[in-house]
Amino acid sequence: MKRFSVLLITLAMGLMVIQCGGGKDEKPATKAAAPAENTPVATTANSQGGLASDIPHDLANGEAVYKKYCFACHDPGIAGAAKHADLERWEESAAKGLPTLIKHAMEGFQGKYGMLPPKGTCMECSDQDIIDAVHYQLKMGGKLK
Ligand code: HEC
Repeated sequence: MKRFSVLLITLAMGLMVIQCGGGKDEKPATKAAAPAENTPVATTANSQGGLASDIPHDLANGEAVYKKYCFACHDPGIAGAAKHADLERWEESAAKGLPTLIKHAMEGFQGKYGMLPPKGTCMECSDQDIIDAVHYQLKMGGKLK
């Protein structure tokens, strides 16, 4: 009898494990967005094409600055910094407009994700260096034409 109850307990525990492990009831995405006729196509077109910039910039210099300073946080996405590949985050940032992003990069910015230090830690960078680096980031994030 004792043996039997041990078996029962083992069985019950086994069942529990199975239930916990495979128990995620993945609901099928019922809200799958049916493409409404009046879906603003511009949003997609815009997010693919990115912002146009009339601010003079040099992407090669931006890349050099980025790879020296900004990459430390932005490559791994440390402390809330957006990675290149994090297109959603760059979408969110790009929506603020280039002048705001440049201002944030110059002066520093405490956002909801973390803290961007003034000049992204590149104290010897010129304003133009920062402008270039921000353009490069946006380009990599798919948000610059
Ligand atoms: C110490 C880490 C760190 C370094 C170094 C760094 N950043 Fe950032 N950066 C952040 C964080 C964290 C955020 C996210 C802030 C938020 O939105 O909460 C951010 C966000 C940004 C944004 C988006 C700002 C916005 O308003 O959405 C830009 C542009 C940016 N960084 C540019 C740069 C540039 C250019 C450099 C290099 C010159 C740089 N960063 C270096 C941490 C860093």
